Amino acid sequence: MSEYKQNINKEPFKAVANTAQQLNTPVYVIGGYVRDLLLGRKSKDVDFVVAGSGIDFARSLAQSMGNDTEAKYFENFGTAMIRYKSWELEFVGARKESYRKNSRKPIVENGTLLDDLKRRDFTINALSISLNKEDFGQLHDEFNGLEDLENKIIRTPLDPDITFSDDPLRMMRAIRFATQLGFSIEKNTLKAIERNKNRISIVSGERVADELNKIVGSNKPSVGFLLLEKTGLLKLIFPAFTDLKGVEVINKRAHKDNFYHTLKVLDNICLTTDNLWLRWAAIMHDIAKPVTKRYDDKAGWTFHGHEFVGAKMVPRLFKKLKLPLNEKMHYVQKMVLLHLRPIILAEDVVTDSAVRRLLFDAGEEVDDLMLLCEADITSKNEVKVKRYLKNFQLVRQKLKEVEEKDRIRNWQPPISGEIIMETFGLSPSKTVGDIKTGIREAILDGLIHNSYEEAYPYMLKIAREMGLEVKDSHYTSGSGSEENKEQKLS
Ligand code: CTP
Repeated sequence: MSEYKQNINKEPFKAVANTAQQLNTPVYVIGGYVRDLLLGRKSKDVDFVVAGSGIDFARSLAQSMGNDTEAKYFENFGTAMIRYKSWELEFVGARKESYRKNSRKPIVENGTLLDDLKRRDFTINALSISLNKEDFGQLHDEFNGLEDLENKIIRTPLDPDITFSDDPLRMMRAIRFATQLGFSIEKNTLKAIERNKNRISIVSGERVADELNKIVGSNKPSVGFLLLEKTGLLKLIFPAFTDLKGVEVINKRAHKDNFYHTLKVLDNICLTTDNLWLRWAAIMHDIAKPVTKRYDDKAGWTFHGHEFVGAKMVPRLFKKLKLPLNEKMHYVQKMVLLHLRPIILAEDVVTDSAVRRLLFDAGEEVDDLMLLCEADITSKNEVKVKRYLKNFQLVRQKLKEVEEKDRIRNWQPPISGEIIMETFGLSPSKTVGDIKTGIREAILDGLIHNSYEEAYPYMLKIAREMGLEVKDSHYTSGSGSEENKEQKLS
């Protein structure tokens, strides 16, 4: 841990130390940067506490740094941000904060470094390093943060009821740090989260979502979700997820606990992807199982249609969780909707047309869908797991072959609506759509190849069956007579 001093001896810390000396104002590196430095995690986001005005300090520093800097001053908050090369440096005056019961807005007064440290969330975030001449590089550790770092413990510097009441988001932060760093939450701190959980309601949904996304983005998100569940926070922020919990038994037949299953799927997918939205798809893939659950004397437990109902639930869940209502949401919806398709395929004979339909429906996301399906195999029966994985290999192989042949993945209709309209003298209408659908279905069934040359005569054939006449034969299939091609097809 002693190598941290070498880092503090370099830019931009040297420049900050010079400014401190010139202004005769003490300054300290604090918070997450110190924590990460001691843990050997690289970061370029640095927080500084100044015994004086953070804004005045930053103005002098920015001036001394010259053209390489971009500075922003937030007079209302008494903070300043300087971008220097790839660094992001934040300055704040040491302060005392107290909070009122029903608001996150603090009453802020100037304070000492110790006051400032006391109002921080965890002991591991309340370590500071002096940049002052008399003790440059000295680590200040008022709350045994170093010991907690070594023992991998999350603990509040003050009574946890005070720290969490000051800012209830810290309950989520405790769980997020425990998940990201692989730390445990000290007993009293954990109990205080259980006691104060209802205060999460005064925190904005967006900030809760930020923390949730950090949990989902970590190496083993189940750690965080289990803590959220244990403390009661999960039921408050994402009740649909806790609804997955539990096992019901009828006639000695039990279904699996879908909460733990989902967490396993989530951890599994984290081994193969960093895509946050694929991870969210893993979280939501079985979300409709509780509402679709039925017991049948013959079949046992069923969850028919949970993929359709689940896909429908996604926008509501995204809205509640303050996740983006954009193409990311549509992507998750698509994954939830299709998550059973490769499994059904793998259980049966893998036909070309079934593979073509999967390619058509999943499009560019077919590889992600395969990852989700593989992560979804959580059976303890190794023979079963092996069989599924082998069949998935076969599905992947078939997907490759069919795609090379038919280029369905990024499907564009080989005959456009304009060509159909001009050929048969039609205006935009349902008939045009029906012809397009007819051509598409023929391609997906393997009746014709995905090419203009084969689609054109097929269009003539189905249009004739619909009683349409060719009005403009300006477009043709290129080579050979239409008659011949139509004969081949009929
Ligand atoms: N902090 C706090 N309470 C909060 C948020 C932040 O006490 N609700 C303090 C902590 O000392 C923290 C510092 O402000 O270390 C900086 O906060 P932030 O940048 O949000 O977190 P980091 O600890 O730097 O960690 P990360 O960048 O992973 O969020």
